[in-house]
Amino acid sequence: MAVYAKKKMFYISIGFWLILGVECYSGWSNHVLTIKTGGSVTIPCRYDEKNPPQKKYWYSEYDQSKIYTNTSEENLSVIDHPDQSLFTVTMKNLQNKHTGGYSCAVETEGQPNVTYELHLKVQSAPDVSVVSSSISGHEGGNVSVQCFYSSGYQNELKQWCRYKDQSCYTVGRTETSQNSSVQISDDGRRSFTVLMTGLRLSDSGWFFCSSGEAMNPVHLTVTEAEPVSGPTDNPGNSSETGISKNKNKTDTEDQQIRNKELLSVWLPVSAALLLLLILVGVFTWKWTQRSKQDKHQNRERNDSRTSDAVPQIWQL
Ligand SMILES: *[C@@H]1O[C@H](CO)[C@@H](O)[C@H](O)[C@H]1NC(C)=O
Ligand SMILES: *[C@@H]1O[C@H](CO)[C@@H](O)[C@H](O)[C@H]1NC(C)=O
Ligand SMILES: *[C@@H]1O[C@H](CO)[C@@H](O)[C@H](O)[C@H]1NC(C)=O
Ligand SMILES: *[C@@H]1O[C@H](CO)[C@@H](O)[C@H](O)[C@H]1NC(C)=O
Ligand SMILES: *[C@@H]1O[C@H](CO)[C@@H](O)[C@H](O)[C@H]1NC(C)=O
Repeated sequence: MAVYAKKKMFYISIGFWLILGVECYSGWSNHVLTIKTGGSVTIPCRYDEKNPPQKKYWYSEYDQSKIYTNTSEENLSVIDHPDQSLFTVTMKNLQNKHTGGYSCAVETEGQPNVTYELHLKVQSAPDVSVVSSSISGHEGGNVSVQCFYSSGYQNELKQWCRYKDQSCYTVGRTETSQNSSVQISDDGRRSFTVLMTGLRLSDSGWFFCSSGEAMNPVHLTVTEAEPVSGPTDNPGNSSETGISKNKNKTDTEDQQIRNKELLSVWLPVSAALLLLLILVGVFTWKWTQRSKQDKHQNRERNDSRTSDAVPQIWQL
């Protein structure tokens, strides 16, 4: 309830809420993002792709600041991604004082619009958390995400929701309406696992792990299936992903083996060649020295018979 009172204050303080009839995704308004103390979070803020707003910003109730795109600071960045019709807000080094209300907002022709509001809770043991908030997979492949929840959330509804269309997959539902390409299983203790199979490029985007109202964002990147290597092969279709991936792997392994072979053959051979060159060099040098010395000695013998010792050293 305190949160609601705070939110009201927030709307009044902005002063456009009642007057302009701000459109708000009410379905998301009681979202609580739980983040570990000292941790970081990236939050997506969607906007109308057909009518992109002129200005986009992140509003913090904590210091009543508006941070417009594109801003990059040490602990806060607000970056626009026009290709995805959203901007992302990354907050780092989160401390208890950052707990509070935040909003994504846009301005079109000077009219502000809150598109998404949420409550951030910085906790030493977050109610809901994920190991990695950024995952990736290949087209046709699988990814799995483990979402952890604290003991207080054991009996809450656990979901995996797509941010874009707010569609959710729920633990324990066996309705046919749920997509079989997403499976959720709860270990009943501290985590539930989401398995997404047969990934499509269009699955790329933002998702949320949630238990009750507590949630954590996860970004999924689906990359194109690797083309099957070889000049005559067609590009791999999604059904061939596994094969093309393996083939790629063996190709690189082959390459490594070949490199090793090259090394093991060429190193000794070139070493031997080098040795041979040195030997030849030494012999020719010695040969020329000796013939020089012979001439020298002959001349010296003719001149005087004083120094036989010096040439003796050089004769090795
Ligand atoms: C903001 O940054 C994004 C991503 O780097 C870029 O695509 C976009 O063009 C930038 N927008 C402006 C106004 O600089
Ligand atoms: C970023 O967060 C760290 C840790 O809380 C803090 O020491 C630092 O001053 C912050 N940087 C800025 C620019 O606020
Ligand atoms: C299941 O997901 C696929 C891919 O996202 C989609 O094409 C299909 O319509 C979905 N089925 C249902 C029943 O939601
Ligand atoms: C790959 O898919 C395309 C259509 O997406 C199809 O025309 C083509 O025959 C497929 N190739 C193979 C090798 O299955
Ligand atoms: C396939 O091999 C290329 C280099 O040969 C490498 O850059 C790429 O990451 C590999 N892909 C996979 C899926 O192993």
